[in-house]
Amino acid sequence: QGFRYRPELMEGLPEALAIELKKYEDWFLLEPPKMKAITDHFVRELEKGLTVEGGSIPMNITWIMRYPTGQEKGRILTVDLGGTNIRVCEVCLSAGKRDFEQRQRKYKLPEEVKTTTKEALWGFIADRIASFLTESQSDISASNPLPMAFTFSFPVEQKSIRSGVLQRWTKNFNVSGVVGHDVVPQLEEELAKRNIPVKVVALINDTAGTLVASRYRDPQVKIGSIFSTGCNAAYMEKCRLIPKLYDSGLPEDATVIINTEYGSFDNEGKVLPLTPFDRQIDEESAHPGRQIYEKMVAGLYIGEMLRLVMLKMHEDGVLCKGQDSSRLRAKNSLETSFLSTVEMDMSEGLTNMKKEFKESLNLKLSLDELKACRHLIGLIAMRASRLYACGIAAICMKKGIRQCHVGVDGSVFSKYSMLKGRATQGLRDIFDWDSSRLDLIALNSAEDGSGVGAALVASLTLDPSELEEC
Ligand code: GLC
Repeated sequence: QGFRYRPELMEGLPEALAIELKKYEDWFLLEPPKMKAITDHFVRELEKGLTVEGGSIPMNITWIMRYPTGQEKGRILTVDLGGTNIRVCEVCLSAGKRDFEQRQRKYKLPEEVKTTTKEALWGFIADRIASFLTESQSDISASNPLPMAFTFSFPVEQKSIRSGVLQRWTKNFNVSGVVGHDVVPQLEEELAKRNIPVKVVALINDTAGTLVASRYRDPQVKIGSIFSTGCNAAYMEKCRLIPKLYDSGLPEDATVIINTEYGSFDNEGKVLPLTPFDRQIDEESAHPGRQIYEKMVAGLYIGEMLRLVMLKMHEDGVLCKGQDSSRLRAKNSLETSFLSTVEMDMSEGLTNMKKEFKESLNLKLSLDELKACRHLIGLIAMRASRLYACGIAAICMKKGIRQCHVGVDGSVFSKYSMLKGRATQGLRDIFDWDSSRLDLIALNSAEDGSGVGAALVASLTLDPSELEEC
């Protein structure tokens, strides 16, 4: 019954509300057989992505061919273009210590930069790098540039670790002039215009950085994943199992990290239980028809899902009847953090929750309405967590992994504390684990992928003579 969300919340609700909620339960509950069917299809799609013909999941080759050994060293600049911030970091790795020092700064990414021109995007990043280096008074010059690892969390086709052609924008980015181009020279051009003495030595996806950083600390880690604005995962694959690499002359025992880009799973809508709300979210998104799985799981969309469901209930006359719904009608007026704050309300009479609704939506909810909304929030978050579990389970099945640790990074996973337990319950349901036994696949908070992970990858790619002792 792990997939049922707190049925006691439904008790004593007026009939009209209870009938209405039942409808949403039917839409959002994911029972174990359905999860198993989704996971099976997911495994086949992961396989397809590795073939020459490809499929809807890109399964991108990252050219990170091994894990760090602990002997990595050097001073490296890491830059992460995340969903909401740009993080610039100077990481110092010391050989033999599995330890590092870092100094970092975050810069808010203005919304308009996500939909601007390539010059404005790369120029914005270059300016932040310049101001970081000025503050740190780094001893670098054109003849002694600082190696830089760039975490760029979008699908890129890589011919080498130092380059990557953007396949398409995802999440809510839509910058012109970048799709189909190598992003490294574009950034380097803006760096050169400003005489910034850094050299991009590695282009990394956030999932690959997470995998490497988590594995550095814990040898049982086999998957790196992000559960945040977007949702994705990376794992290490044997090159002889990757048909699209057959002609590349790699040694028989070579391995490489695959950035699955599995947010695009089932764009065709074959197995995912899409509701009318999912279709609306997709249609109104920056990229309709793409990243369908991600849109059912990730933080960029969960708040919007709640808003759409509440709005429908309001329009059907069962929620906040007669009240001013203008804020509820405003697109993206609810963030994922709203759901986690509300779920965390343990107060009697749900008084904190009541306040949250008043402040965020200018709506006054009765106790019954509060209970109903809490139930809805639980259903939405449960569905997201259980679908998240399907992706992780699919990689494990594809690889024949029976036991491992998964390094999971991302603000949604770390701040919305209930998601971890729900996703773990999802894994139990898919694999039929006995709940009294230890979970074989453990979802753990990841080490810092875009700082330490990216620096480790950069260090792996360089000759020790190119690295400065810290
Ligand atoms: C999106 C991006 C992917 C990234 C994920 C998490 O799915 O396409 O590259 O890893 O978001 O940030």
